[in-house]
Amino acid sequence: MTTSEVRPEATAEIGLHLLDDHRHNKETAFTAEEREAFGLLGLLPPAIETLERQVERVLLQLAAKPNDLECYIYLNELAERDETLFFRTVMSDPARFIPILYDPTVADACLTFGHIYRRHAGLYVTRHMKGRIAEVLRHWPERDVRFICVSTGHRILGLGDIGANGMGIPIGKLQLYTACAGVPPDGLLPILLDVGTTNDALRADPLYLGLREKPPSPEQLDELTDELMEAVQDVFPGCCVHFEDWKGTDAVHMLDRYLDRYLCYNDDIQGTAAVALAGILAALKETGGRLRDQRFLFFGAGSAGLGIADLLVRALQRDGLAEDDALGRVSMFDINGLVERSRTDLDPAQRRYAHDAAPSTDLVETIEAFAPTALIGVSTKGGAFTQEVVEAMSRLNPRPIIFALSNPTDRAEVSAEHAYRWSNGQALYAAGVQFPDVTLDGKTFRPGQANNFYVFPAIGLATYVTRPKRLTYECFIVAAEGVADQVGPELRARGMLYPSQADILESEVTTATRVAESIFDQGLAQVERPEDIRAWIEGQLYQPTH
Ligand code: NAI
Repeated sequence: MTTSEVRPEATAEIGLHLLDDHRHNKETAFTAEEREAFGLLGLLPPAIETLERQVERVLLQLAAKPNDLECYIYLNELAERDETLFFRTVMSDPARFIPILYDPTVADACLTFGHIYRRHAGLYVTRHMKGRIAEVLRHWPERDVRFICVSTGHRILGLGDIGANGMGIPIGKLQLYTACAGVPPDGLLPILLDVGTTNDALRADPLYLGLREKPPSPEQLDELTDELMEAVQDVFPGCCVHFEDWKGTDAVHMLDRYLDRYLCYNDDIQGTAAVALAGILAALKETGGRLRDQRFLFFGAGSAGLGIADLLVRALQRDGLAEDDALGRVSMFDINGLVERSRTDLDPAQRRYAHDAAPSTDLVETIEAFAPTALIGVSTKGGAFTQEVVEAMSRLNPRPIIFALSNPTDRAEVSAEHAYRWSNGQALYAAGVQFPDVTLDGKTFRPGQANNFYVFPAIGLATYVTRPKRLTYECFIVAAEGVADQVGPELRARGMLYPSQADILESEVTTATRVAESIFDQGLAQVERPEDIRAWIEGQLYQPTH
């Protein structure tokens, strides 16, 4: 806003509004001229500060906080008070602040959401608003909403169904669009679709803030979600809907239902798959192998495993295999043993991966029979990759790819330390959590973290600039390649399979450029193709400056 846009008689009112408007508030950084023009004289202490000085104060106040949850509360209050200062702080050291705004601290914040609640943020759409969802969306003050992140709160991180307490997730995910990839924050809308919760303890908590009801039938949920999707088209045309942390079966179902109809994606399915594929592609740079020649054994055949396997099969086909051959390169092992043809307990998604093989409940035996080059843990079974398992993989492969993606830490199928030790430092290892560095025989390994934040903010940025009609699986494969191509020999020599978190903005822009190119190539973009895509993207990045 410039002073010339303001009528003099309105200045007193504007001053207070400005201080209450987190998007325009600069607090002590308002200049003398602005203080005069907007009726701010006397409302602020006399010092006029730079953003750098303000960040210094934020860091000082954060240092006094006793734990990360208190830092989370403080930072989110700051976001509601002074958005620019919030993002300037977070973007000054993303590797430090992302784990506070998102996983793992957000899990504590969600668990205690009703207790630490300060003020409204995002939108709550409940099943009782059926027939009125468009009206509710119009209550949001921004008109040009470009992304909605929507969760039912039914499968939050490792916490299960926590209902309306899950609001911290869409808020945090969207903050990462900006903090990691420079997507402007004004077009981001977090929504908690509150359809009740199965969590009895929460429903009994007097401070719980959501509906105290059990979830509706699948048909009722479909009707409500259909209305939400249609209302989004109506109120915010061109908006991308990011589904996050829905119950596994609902997540798969909604993606199937809407993927070809609306601009949408599911980060738990497609983002997870892309980040796992990125790790595999980075590992192959080290082994020198080609994707189509690999054999993948999944330990765990749930929503994460199936999502990764399905994207892998598409990537294998893209690398020249027929669908049947691609499927034959992927095998699964779940709580009842090897997924094979004689099993009668498999659902259709798992049945795709049931091959002609002898039944087995012994993982080492299965490894010896299937001879995988990569073993991917997505089972929630901590410690399942024993020394015998890692040694079996090492006997078959000079550089075995071993991913332990289950989280939190105590659920990882094998720790970084054990994976490196038991493979004599040869494992190409990544985990779902960030394990500390491991030193073995004088060499220090920095274990990779298969964190979705390498992919979804870049998908967001590419979507933001190209305004595509749809997001395809191809976009996610390209994103995975974009991430993997950034892991050079120096990083790989330290055991890293993902780019450095400290350079996250640079990394996301690089990935987003690749995805944007692909969106143009696929004919999905609804803007004109610029000559220099990267420069064009860089020109649209949010800058946390006054
Ligand atoms: P899920 O509950 O849908 O599936 C778990 C699968 O593991 C099932 O097939 C089950 O039969 C199998 N399983 C459980 N216990 C087992 C055992 N003792 N032996 C063999 N198989 C066993 O869970 P979902 O959603 O697939 O998630 C799995 C894990 O992956 C979770 O810990 C989750 O946190 C993690 N994950 C990690 C991500 C990442 O690193 N970016 C992203 C998404 C999930």
